[in-house]
Amino acid sequence: MLTRVFYISEIVESVTDIDVLVILGVAQVNNRRLDVTGMLAQSDGHFAQVLEGRTDVMRTLLAKIATDPRHREMRSLLQDSIERRQFSRWSMGLVRRDDMAEQMKTLHRDGCTNNAQARLMIQQLMASAP
Ligand SMILES: Cc1cc2nc3c(=O)[nH]c(=O)nc-3n(C[C@H](O)[C@H](O)[C@H](O)COP(=O)(O)O)c2cc1C
Repeated sequence: MLTRVFYISEIVESVTDIDVLVILGVAQVNNRRLDVTGMLAQSDGHFAQVLEGRTDVMRTLLAKIATDPRHREMRSLLQDSIERRQFSRWSMGLVRRDDMAEQMKTLHRDGCTNNAQARLMIQQLMASAP
């Protein structure tokens, strides 16, 4: 069974652009091995990540990501059973979305009222994916 998850977290202040590139590199290698796909969006204050993969694999991976000291307060906004991947081309892609910093902040603070809102946010965040 496949699962898609979407969360937003706060980036720890000391994290640099180089650190983010290191996260991306490790994620790409690991995710390829685990058959996990997805995208990581970054504003100056928040990460928003979509991950897709086998449900059991995702559980372990998310537990690992949740304890990563480079971010905090991971807020899960969507957990969907899916039949097809949306990001099948990327083991992990990175998009910079400073233009959506306020929306990311609000969603992280308040959460979303329904899954449709979270799905719309994914579409908007990832619209600039290469
Ligand atoms: C925002 C964020 C997203 C991450 N995404 C992934 C990911 O998709 N896949 C992954 O393996 N690690 C990801 N990591 C890194 C993990 O927390 C962890 O450092 C890494 O998986 C350890 O890999 P290793 O066990 O090969 O040393 C992410 C970290 C952060 C802060």
